[in-house]
Amino acid sequence: MSRASDNETLSRVGPGSAMGGFMRKFWIPAALSSELEADGDPLRLMLLGEKLIAFRDTSGRVGIMDHRCPHRCASLFFGRNEEDGIRCVYHGWKFDVDGNCLDMANVPSHQDFKHKVKANAYNTHERNGMIWVYMGDQSEIPALPEIEATLLPEDQVLIRTAQRDCNWLQGLEGDIDTSHLSFLHLGAAQAGNVAADNDQQHVVAARAPEYIVAETEYGTKYASFRSTEGGGDTYWRLAHYVFPFWALPPNRPIDINIIGRAWVPLDDTHTMFYEFIHKDTRKRMRKDKSGKRLRGDGVDSEFRSNDTSWLGRWRLAANAGNDYLIDRDIQRSESYTGISNIHLQDQAVTESMGAITDRTQEHLSASDEMIAKTRRRILGAVRAFQKDGSLPVVRGDAAIMQGVRSGSYVSPADVDWMNAYEDHMRAIAKAAE
Ligand code: FES
Ligand SMILES: [Fe+2]
Repeated sequence: MSRASDNETLSRVGPGSAMGGFMRKFWIPAALSSELEADGDPLRLMLLGEKLIAFRDTSGRVGIMDHRCPHRCASLFFGRNEEDGIRCVYHGWKFDVDGNCLDMANVPSHQDFKHKVKANAYNTHERNGMIWVYMGDQSEIPALPEIEATLLPEDQVLIRTAQRDCNWLQGLEGDIDTSHLSFLHLGAAQAGNVAADNDQQHVVAARAPEYIVAETEYGTKYASFRSTEGGGDTYWRLAHYVFPFWALPPNRPIDINIIGRAWVPLDDTHTMFYEFIHKDTRKRMRKDKSGKRLRGDGVDSEFRSNDTSWLGRWRLAANAGNDYLIDRDIQRSESYTGISNIHLQDQAVTESMGAITDRTQEHLSASDEMIAKTRRRILGAVRAFQKDGSLPVVRGDAAIMQGVRSGSYVSPADVDWMNAYEDHMRAIAKAAE
């Protein structure tokens, strides 16, 4: 159970909020590179409760700025994306991607003060198919995150995105709540019917594992563990939370599990999910003995068409309004939920908690230790930032994420969890040499 005031601190992200100030100190995935064309239409972008526009100029550079023109606040969404700048259609002032005013078309040249006017533009960076934005103080910009999956070249990475109609922390907590895997996603799978080479057999055979949770320089980590069938060994699933809104879930065996998932707040009650995953990781499916994908294990969702409204991007066709297209017959017979794929199953339960869940109503159990500790870790970091401006180490030293990966592995029962993890990571680094 959390205090109502803690819940407010964790959830509110708008300008002036504690969490919003903290998040603005980190680079944020803002949009897919493919969403902006050179000289194409500007994009309405909501981020941390701010209404922004994004556009790509003639040279290919991306600008992200307050949508209000600094002259008299008309929206630059209606602007003309012209030769290397966007021109406000009200009185013709033109701005480049850095916010510099290039032209004050309606003012006689001797009264022009364009060098004194700037649009409120944020620093952007584009890497491997993703446009990033830095919304904090523009004079002290940190390095981009070095989470492994975000560093994959464009021909190796798949980036999935979808909007979720709830607060960012509900999405994130779904990713660090490994306990639900054996139910929400694999509740109908029978241990005897999971492919033998599939490590999910352990998840299905023992649905109430134990947990170890620890703080890290970059956030928190946990491992769930249970004995393998027949005993002797331990099956581990180890994963990380990374400041401010990243989860590295343990979806696959650790040697192939290159994945990072960001829960980017659009505002207090809408979140954009971005998953960076290696193509080969994605290919590994959960199968039954005949090689068929386990029912409910799909990942591909249908989308509504994007529109130009502030929250009009990447909304799923199945949603709260149609009960996520739940099929009660399939729920009775083959799948635990009757909801067609993993992402949608997560979407349904996290949105069903309410736009901002009331955490004073919860009854946390031993299976929620990662969630409880991560909340405390985030609250501690936000309070330290409020007190004296201090920030987690990872913000200034992105390289500490090198060699950090999540995943599952089996080790002899007497090997310590961190030793087993480090052995695997050493073997992975050696194989990559
Ligand atoms: S409001 Fe944009 S040029 Fe006047
Ligand atoms: Fe899930």
